[in-house]
Amino acid sequence: MQAIEIKKGIYWVGAVDWSMRSFHGYQTGRGSSYNAYLIIDDKITLIDTVKSTFANELLERISSVIDPSRIDYIISNHVEPDHSGSIPFMMQHCPAATIITSLPNGLKGLKAHYGEYAYKGVKAGDILNIGHRTLQFVTTPMLHWPDSMVSYCPEESILFSNDSFGQHLASTKRFDDENDFAILMQEAKKYYANILMLYGRQAQTAIKAVADLDIKMIATGHGIIWRSHIPEIFTAYQKWSTFDLDEKAVVVFDSMWHSTEILAKNIAEAFAARGIPAAYYDIKVDHMSDIVVDILTSKYLAVGSPTINNQMMPSIAGFLSYLKGLAPKGHKAFAFGSYGWGGQSIALVEDELKACGCDICLEKIRIPNIPTQEQLKEITEKIKAL
Ligand code: FEO
Repeated sequence: MQAIEIKKGIYWVGAVDWSMRSFHGYQTGRGSSYNAYLIIDDKITLIDTVKSTFANELLERISSVIDPSRIDYIISNHVEPDHSGSIPFMMQHCPAATIITSLPNGLKGLKAHYGEYAYKGVKAGDILNIGHRTLQFVTTPMLHWPDSMVSYCPEESILFSNDSFGQHLASTKRFDDENDFAILMQEAKKYYANILMLYGRQAQTAIKAVADLDIKMIATGHGIIWRSHIPEIFTAYQKWSTFDLDEKAVVVFDSMWHSTEILAKNIAEAFAARGIPAAYYDIKVDHMSDIVVDILTSKYLAVGSPTINNQMMPSIAGFLSYLKGLAPKGHKAFAFGSYGWGGQSIALVEDELKACGCDICLEKIRIPNIPTQEQLKEITEKIKAL
């Protein structure tokens, strides 16, 4: 396996994970990559490593350029094991290397994961001279771990951004302009929605911290490298991190005997009739990690569940728990559902929507048994009047 030169003397030496289909439950239908970069300078510098199961792939790519024992520095931008997991393996091959990590949390995290090595902690604004080039460190705490940081090389105008701006996308092509742009943006949005949505404020701080840097390349920790569409990904991050919502709706439901499903279809069509496009998600067949992608930029959210054993369906409870963790902001929501008796689920869904931070914009829709045409018409009118 060969290294890929991304700029003179700078190589991608990461690993492509073609088969990965779940990342902590986030469904990754297009696989991923763990990107590591090798800079050949007076001091040979490796930026990040790869998941431990791909350590040999990393070593092989590095070895296609230099003898790995010559590595002087390993920059660890982030302790999470998909980036740091091969540090112990690499240290067997470059025992003289110093590991650079953020203070205090990178240092604490790496020691807790891997024990004692030659570490050097850095703070925001610290600069490491590696010869003809320097690396400046910009800490990005809680984007998305306490230790997270990015590294900037001003002589090359490259931002080594780790998780930020990344996507779970396996490809033989390393650059944005070599891949399908629509797929790339969809995967970048899915990555942001599932990994970073909770950290919008921190994302804003990070965007401000790098706003004045001259960036001609964003070398991400996952997926492809941005070089031709940097304004587009910055604009997208600005929109996503501020919850700049579109006039769109998302309808999510589970159903037992199709009555809540009839309500869901009616609600989606009522939104559409109002000129508000609605995405329709049946939780039995759609994955929550896809649903939250649309929620990230849609103003309206309708969630439906019938009642089972006095509760909402566990599928909807799981979805709402996931959504609550991501802490969406600014959404207008309501609950709906059909029931046979009791009908407790609809109020429970409404409570969870409130706990998610949603503003309840419509009285919960509770329909006994099978909705009638009159009831459906009434719901349509209510949505028209929203
Ligand atoms: Fe890609 Fe937070 O690790």
